[in-house]
Amino acid sequence: MHTNLVDKYNVPGPRYTSYPTVPYWDQETFSLKGWKHSVIQCFKNSNESKGISLYIHLPFCESMCTFCGCNKRITKRHTVETPYINTILKEWQLYLNLFETKPRIKELHLGGGTPTFFSPENLQSLIKGLFYSTASIETCEFSFEGHPNNTTKEHLQVLYDVGFRRVSFGVQDYNQKVQKAIHRIQPFEHVKHVTEVAREIGYTSIGHDIIFGLPFQTEEAVIHTIQKTKELLPDRLAFYSYAHVPWQKGNGQRGFNEVDLPTPEQKRRQYETGKQLLSTMGYVEIGMDHFALKSDSLYKAMENKSLHRNFMGYTVSNTTMMIGLGVSSISDSWQGFAQNVKNIEEYQNLVSEGIIPVYRGHLLTKKDETIRQHILNLMCHFKTDWSSNQLYFDELIDVSIRLKEMEYDGLVIITDTSIEVTEKGKPFIRNICMAFDLRLQHNKPETQLFSMTI
Ligand SMILES: C[S@@+](CC[C@H](N)C(=O)[O-])C[C@H]1O[C@@H](n2cnc3c(N)ncnc32)[C@H](O)[C@@H]1O
Ligand code: SF4
Repeated sequence: MHTNLVDKYNVPGPRYTSYPTVPYWDQETFSLKGWKHSVIQCFKNSNESKGISLYIHLPFCESMCTFCGCNKRITKRHTVETPYINTILKEWQLYLNLFETKPRIKELHLGGGTPTFFSPENLQSLIKGLFYSTASIETCEFSFEGHPNNTTKEHLQVLYDVGFRRVSFGVQDYNQKVQKAIHRIQPFEHVKHVTEVAREIGYTSIGHDIIFGLPFQTEEAVIHTIQKTKELLPDRLAFYSYAHVPWQKGNGQRGFNEVDLPTPEQKRRQYETGKQLLSTMGYVEIGMDHFALKSDSLYKAMENKSLHRNFMGYTVSNTTMMIGLGVSSISDSWQGFAQNVKNIEEYQNLVSEGIIPVYRGHLLTKKDETIRQHILNLMCHFKTDWSSNQLYFDELIDVSIRLKEMEYDGLVIITDTSIEVTEKGKPFIRNICMAFDLRLQHNKPETQLFSMTI
């Protein structure tokens, strides 16, 4: 990656876990009634053939990491666990009431916040409660996010026993100065312990999250973190660019100063060096931010072109319907999106009144559906084409014009009916997708809504 390319393309841009992206959802045409209708339709069309995905947001953490952009509530009071789980189960019942047959859960992810804040017993009752009214399905992808500082053998065993085979652990960086600045003291030994215990129990895919671009992080720190990672060789690695979004209310990112952050050029070098090291260790880049060993299902999905991307990130399951339960969760009915309220008390009040607790959403137009498919193709396969009429839309000519400069810079190859991202273009995938994003192009934001693309 050349410095002048970074200067040119380092602009605010979405991460495209959905299209349209959340700030561009059209509230005018969204209603709870329309949302329920789209859920019922999608369930009818896809439950038998594909099954459905469930995302459960467990928002509590005991301690605040100052870099964190997730929706969380910091508390040490574990009395919050039971009422929260009961609310999730009630919310699930509100969705079950809409279905005529039992749902087939193909994919389930516990995210947060910190799922392992909850006791193993409470997580077990949550999963048992969710499965109570569902049809069993043999090939399922169940995963959770564990904090290495509080994931116990019991957590890993209990979740394994109910079907979980995949876990990801937040690592970020092993350098002490960085850990102090992000308020997350986490020795390597903790990560080693949980990784080894998960393997002994039988988890088949273990992931680590590491980040570059953190305050006080240097290229040497990134190299050191990756070298330590090599000792444990997780099956998957998320190598995230630190998203600095201090304007998001209440996320506690103000724990350090802007001057403590690496410059865009230093950040670029951290990414380049990290990526190169990972490749020598046998990791293959999967779409944006993700790496996997060739033995992992994510790599296999990329190879056979079945990789999919949704609000949970990259996934091997091809479900089109995803129900998000819990505070701030986003659901996807393939015809529309809806997000739950972000405040825990409001969430609990709405659910106890029998109301599906969504507060905003979007119902897709035909053109949104076409553009979503192009963006999915690019994010998952680095290529899209419109040789079939289905994926043609009038503004494609403008898209090609917008990409001309990137073609000149060797980032994309444009033909009459396709766009392909080159190796050099991969770090700029968000910028390339932005050329297709008509809602963004037609209504450029006046204030910064997204993190920087590099
Ligand atoms: C919900 S946390 C993982 C589980 C657990 N809470 C933990 O911290 O270990 C999800 C992951 O998102 C990533 N993340 C959070 N905030 C981020 C940010 N501002 N920029 C980039 N990645 C971020 C981190 O790598 C983190 O491990
Ligand atoms: S990184 Fe994880 S533990 Fe830290 S505040 Fe965010 S969600 Fe909580």
